[in-house]
Order: sequence, then structure tokens, then C-alpha cells
Amino acid sequence: MKSIAVLTSGGDAPGMNAAVRAVVRAAIYNKLRITGIHRGYQGLLDFEFEAMELSSVANIIQKGGTILKTARCKDFYKASGRKHAAENFKKAGFDGLIVIGGNGTFKAAHTLWVEHKIPIVAIPSTIDNDINGTDTTIGFDTAVQNAVEAIDKIRDTAASHDRLFIVEVMGRNSGHIALEVGLACGAESIFAPECKVSIQKVCQNIKRGAARGKKSSIIICAEGDTPGRAYEIAAKIKRHSGFEAKVCILGHIQRGGNPTARGRNLASRLGVESVKVLLEGRRDVMVAIKDNKIQVVQLSKNNKKKPINLSDLRLTQILSI
Ligand code: F6P
Repeated sequence: MKSIAVLTSGGDAPGMNAAVRAVVRAAIYNKLRITGIHRGYQGLLDFEFEAMELSSVANIIQKGGTILKTARCKDFYKASGRKHAAENFKKAGFDGLIVIGGNGTFKAAHTLWVEHKIPIVAIPSTIDNDINGTDTTIGFDTAVQNAVEAIDKIRDTAASHDRLFIVEVMGRNSGHIALEVGLACGAESIFAPECKVSIQKVCQNIKRGAARGKKSSIIICAEGDTPGRAYEIAAKIKRHSGFEAKVCILGHIQRGGNPTARGRNLASRLGVESVKVLLEGRRDVMVAIKDNKIQVVQLSKNNKKKPINLSDLRLTQILSI
């Protein structure tokens, strides 16, 4: 193996740059040529390549976003698009590919292996933390911290006005961010796609709190398949209890900013490991972190949905009594 490439794909996540830095430096350390592919799989289709040097990744460990840029590539859903990508991969003389991204990125990587035997190692990086087989993903810790800092500010105004707030966090179809953020913010209730929390129950909690003098509350709601998104939940609470709720959708603010130390270090560990694993001849795998140890997980055997930690939900219920 002489020449490898690296790309970031799907939604950007804070820490992707630290991962790119680790891959580039580990590749050069191992005497490999390393190319950065711009805009994810789209760049592989469009031949958007950049030869990477040690200095290409200087001063990026602390930066959010991704210097390689990212994209969600529709052409990859088509066999013709993947064939074109495989041809470009071979034309460029690459011997291996490291992809940094989430579930969509991994699915494409697995399909490229199955259809065209492109040797790929994947690094889990998504704020959603919804990749089965790894305890956490690059970007999750920072996104949670971003959301917590924003909600602490919301709590100030909620307390000053005696208000109820529904705060919607990201997570696509999973409640990992909602749960972690809810626990850290002392939320009264959490709505996540994986768990059924009834509006009636939440209204009872608000009433019980109000009866003992609680004047403001924060409810966290994950985007995705919750019983209606934040505005709908606010309307339902109004119908059931008469309580008015303000709604705040945090949105993409969660994806930006400098990665936390934990996020950077995870990215550095997984980045270096990905090069090692590729050199060892492992294929169609992701490098993951499990019980604080780096592990290699076969992509073909990893198609279950990652469950949320229901005991944390229970904890939130106990603590918001
Ligand atoms: O996967 C990361 C994520 O931020 C999800 O939480 C969210 O549903 C989605 O990406 C938003 O995607 P986009 O930035 O393309 O609108």
C-alpha cells in the first residue's frame, strides 16, 4: 500500500478536522502518499483531490467544520454513481480509502466494498452518536456541550419570566443528544423517538411542579419521530394543561464551534488507528471505541439501530420530581 485517500462526508461534526489531521500525519509517518478528497463522495465523482502534506493539517486540531468540506451525495444512491467513483479511485492510483462520517457514509463505504472491492476503513463522526458498535462518535461531545451552554442561557430567561420552554435538539431519528443534554440541563421531561413519553404525563409533571411553587421548566425534544416536533408539543401541552410554552429550536448551532478536548482526542486516536488497520489489511470495517478501548468492527455485521440509554431517561425522571 503506497497511496491512500481521506474524505469527510454527511453532516459535518466538530472534531472531523482533528481526525483528518491524525489520518494525514499517521499516513505520512507510515511513508504513505495521502490525498484529501474534497466534498465527500461527491469529490470522488468530480475528481476534487488535494495532495496533503504535514503542513496541510497544521493549526486545524481546534477548528470546527471540516477543511475537506463535506456533502450529501445523491449520485451514490445509484449503482452508476458508485461505479464511476470506483473508476476514479482506481484512475487516481489509490490503494485505500478512509472515510469520516455517519451512518450514510458507512453504508456507502460498505456498498463500495461489496460492489467494487474498494478497501475502506470508516471513522465514526456524527453529532447524533447513532452509530451502533461504538460507544461514542466524534462530534457528539461537542454538540452536547453546545446545546447545554445554549440551554443554560435559556434557563436564565425562563426563570426570570416564570416560563416553560420546549427546546428542540438535533439527532435525526435518535435521541442520544436529547438524553445526554436533558440530563445535563436538569430537564423536566425529554421527548425522544425511542421512548414513549405521553403528553398527559408531562402535563402532570408540570402541574405537580407548579403546585409546589416551581415557576419555570425546560423540556427537551429531539427532532425526528417524537409526538410532533417542538411547536406541536407546545400546542398539545397548551390543549391539555393550559400552560403556554416558548419554543426554541437549537438547530445547526449544535454542529459548530471548537471541538472539546474529549472530541479531539477521540479523533486523534481513531484517525491513527484507521491508518494502522488499513495497513494491516482489514477491509469493510470501522474503528470504534468500546469500554474505553479501540476496537475494529466489521461494517457488514453492524446493521442494528444503536439503542439509547434508557436508564438515563429514568434518572431524569427521578431527578425532576
Ligand atoms: O446527522 C447530523 C444532523 O445534524 C442531524 O442531527 C440532522 O437531522 C441533520 O444532520 C441535518 O442535516 P442538514 O444539515 O443536511 O440539514
